[in-house]
This record gives sequence, structure tokens and C-alpha cells, in this order.
Amino acid sequence: MAELIQIKDIAQYDGQEVTVRGWVYNKTGKGRLQFILLRDGSGQAQCVAFKKEMDEAEFEIAKALTQESSVIITGSVRADERAPGFPGGFEIGISKLELVQQSEEYPITPKEHGTEFLMNQRHLWLRSNRQWAILRIRATIVKAMRDYLDDNGFLLVDTPIITPAAGEETTTLFELDYFGDPAFLAQTGQLYNEANMMAFGKVYCFGPTFRAEKSKTRRHLIEFWMLEPEIAFCSLEELMDVEEALVSYVVEQVLAKHQQELEIIERDIDKLKAITSPFARISYDEAVERLQKLHTETEDEEKKKELAIEWGEDFGSPHETALAEMFDKPVFVYHYPTAVKAFYMTPVEGRPEICRSVDLLAPEGYGEIIGGSERIHELELLEKNIDEMGLGREAYEWYLDLRKFGSVPHAGFGIGLERTVAWVCGLPHVRETIPYARLLNRKYP
Ligand code: 4AD
Ligand code: MG
Repeated sequence: MAELIQIKDIAQYDGQEVTVRGWVYNKTGKGRLQFILLRDGSGQAQCVAFKKEMDEAEFEIAKALTQESSVIITGSVRADERAPGFPGGFEIGISKLELVQQSEEYPITPKEHGTEFLMNQRHLWLRSNRQWAILRIRATIVKAMRDYLDDNGFLLVDTPIITPAAGEETTTLFELDYFGDPAFLAQTGQLYNEANMMAFGKVYCFGPTFRAEKSKTRRHLIEFWMLEPEIAFCSLEELMDVEEALVSYVVEQVLAKHQQELEIIERDIDKLKAITSPFARISYDEAVERLQKLHTETEDEEKKKELAIEWGEDFGSPHETALAEMFDKPVFVYHYPTAVKAFYMTPVEGRPEICRSVDLLAPEGYGEIIGGSERIHELELLEKNIDEMGLGREAYEWYLDLRKFGSVPHAGFGIGLERTVAWVCGLPHVRETIPYARLLNRKYP
């Protein structure tokens, strides 16, 4: 009996009879010879139906197959370097074909479709080569991030999604009715991470996070996944070391495992090969100086307007893009103004107007992919900030407890999965980096 295989393994079966199960990606040929490009989720292979070698009724079924019809095919594997597919280079000479379902007319054809149309068909669009490649790279990025931390002494400790209080700014909270009480979807796992860090030393959480952000940009999702490490007795400089090592490892793993996928999405691989530690580290002060100099030198009026910045202002996308363009690797910007960052960030000694924060900006215009900081570990200062921001101390009692029972200096960061995937894959928008994007104007399908 023929062995049931996954197409990704086809090269191991040269000369053997195999069975593959999947969907018709494309069909060409005429008369007595039909070429069926079959995808099974793991890969794609050309299956050749030759009238002479098949049952006549089965050949007629092969001839009538429509795009995305589901089939079970048995045949012999043979090497042929011209054979298309993933991995390609092998085809299957069909001896037996069973139709599972003849597909109705498939709405997504090889012709160009508009983005809105494709997003509405997202449940089907996932089957296209490009989406297949992107989401496989996403899975590898998740695995690489987790492997890196698991292998370096971190423990995965999950944090809740339903929370009683804000973790970041209150303006982007998603409110829920929790049996008559207000509750919120987590903007971050960080505050719980800090408690977990006190129990386990080095921890991370990885889960979906939510921001009711009225931003309609190519970098913003309403629901996105974030990986957040938190480390006891850690300084900002040590934190940057971890970020740098993690990001380099992620890129290295994608390059090692996804040549084929990177080719499908036409990613410039040389740009990725350049991503090795160390990354440049510049202060916010220096970043502003660089931007102001660039502003002076810029002649294009439109660009000039975008680049204008005064010390104390947060960066917008054009600033992040311009800064990142000054380097061919990701660049750290540290010590942002305290006023533009979150309530839990440690002020710099002797200069409380700036804080021990660091963002990592990705090259090629992808902007901030990581935000992190040293956390305030003294009780009084944290209480003062919570009060001043009007957050309401009651919901933070447990968080303040962490500063009463063996408080230690600590630091952590959050890396946005979708922004990382968009950058690594070189995509124009984050919407293709997640299976089902939640955007300002979209929650379907
Ligand atoms: O800079 P952020 O808001 O940092 C935090 O939430 C910290 N509590 C993390 C920590 O220190 N544990 O978000 C971190 C990252 C950003 O750099 C970005 O990559 C991603 O999360 N991110 C978003 N990604 C997609 N859509 C959005 N609306 C995002 N907001 C943040
Ligand atoms: Mg940030």
C-alpha cells in the first residue's frame, strides 16, 4: 500500500508510491494530460494525470477539477527539476484519484484583487501562497522568541486577559461589563509579569493584547500579540543586551528555515543578513539633535513639516522612520522624556525629566517594534505617579505590594509580534501578519 505523506517530505520518497491529500491550487494541460498543482498545507506538488495510466472515470474527474476542489491522490514520485511546487523538483504520476468535494467557483483567482475584497475573504485568502508563506514565518518567529527565552533561564508565566485596571494609558482601554463591574481587556501583561518576576526571577508572558486605538495606520492593530520578558535585578543596558540577542536570533532562525517562504514573498534577504548584534544605542537627546539637523538640511517642504520636532515631544512615524534610516540595523533610542512615557518608568537620577526607557526601532521604516524600561521600585514614587495620573490606587494595591516585600530594581520589555513579522517579511501593512486582523474598521471575518 502507498504511504500517506506530507508534501513537504516528498524528496524522501523518490521512486515510491505515495498518497497525498489536499486541494487543487491550479490546473493546466489539455486532452490526455492534466497537470494538477496540489497543496496540502505543508507544501505543493505537481500531480500529473495521464489518461493512459488511469481509470477512465477517474481521469474524467481529474479533467473536471475546479480550483480548491479537495482530492486524495495516489501515485509514484519522480524527480523532475522543472516540477513546480514547494519544495518543488518532484512530481507525482497519478495512478488513483478520489474526489472529496468538487469546489464551487472560487472567489479568489490568480488575477489581482483589491485589499478590501481580500480582507473580506480572509478565511479563504489564507490558502494563497503569499499568506501561507507569511504565516509560516510568523509561527517560526514565535517559536524562535520562545526558544530563545526558554533556553536562557526564563519561565513562561501566563498573565490574565481580563483585568481590573489599566496597564498603559487609560485612553486606549477596552471596557467590559464584568457582572455589573467595569473590567478591561489587557493592554499588556507587564504588571502581572512584575509579580511573577518576583516569584521566578526571569519570566515572560506571551498573549493577545488589546488597544482601543483610533489609529488607522499600517502599524496599528486593535488586537495584537506581544511577548513580554521581565527580569529581576536588571538594568536598562542589560535589557538592551537581551533585546539585541533575541531579535538577532529571531532573524537568524527565519533565514535558516524559510529561504523558500522569503522567496515567495520576494523579501530582500541581504537586508536581513545584516541584522546581527550589536545594534547602535542613541539617547533621545541625540535622536532629537539628529532629527533637527535633518530637518534643517531637508528641502522638500512636505518632508520638512513631518520632521519638525522640539525636545520633549514624542516621535511620530516619520521621526522613527527617519532615525531608523540612519542605520542599517535596528537602533535603540533610550532615555525618553518622562512625560511621554508610562507611569511605572524610573526617572533618571539627577534628570527626572527623562526616564530609563528604551524603544527599539526597526530599519526600513517599520518603526518601534519593542518598548521597554527600568521599573520604579520605590513605593512612594510609584504611589505619587498613580495618584497624579488619576489611576485610582485601589486597583493597584497588589502592584504596590511588590514594592513593600523585597522590592528590587528590575526591567522588562514588550515586543510586538505583528510589527516584527511585518518588518522581517518586508510587508507594507500589519494586516497580513495575523490570521484575522482586528482593525479600526474591521472585525470580520
Ligand atoms: O510600547 P508598548 O505600549 O509597551 C508596553 O505595553 C509595555 N508594557 C511592554 C513591557 O515593557 N512589558 O508596546 C510594546 C510593543 C510596541 O513596541 C509594538 O511593537 C507593539 O507592542 N504594539 C502594537 N502592535 C500593533 N498594534 C498596536 N496597536 C500596538 N501597540 C503596541
Ligand atoms: Mg511604546
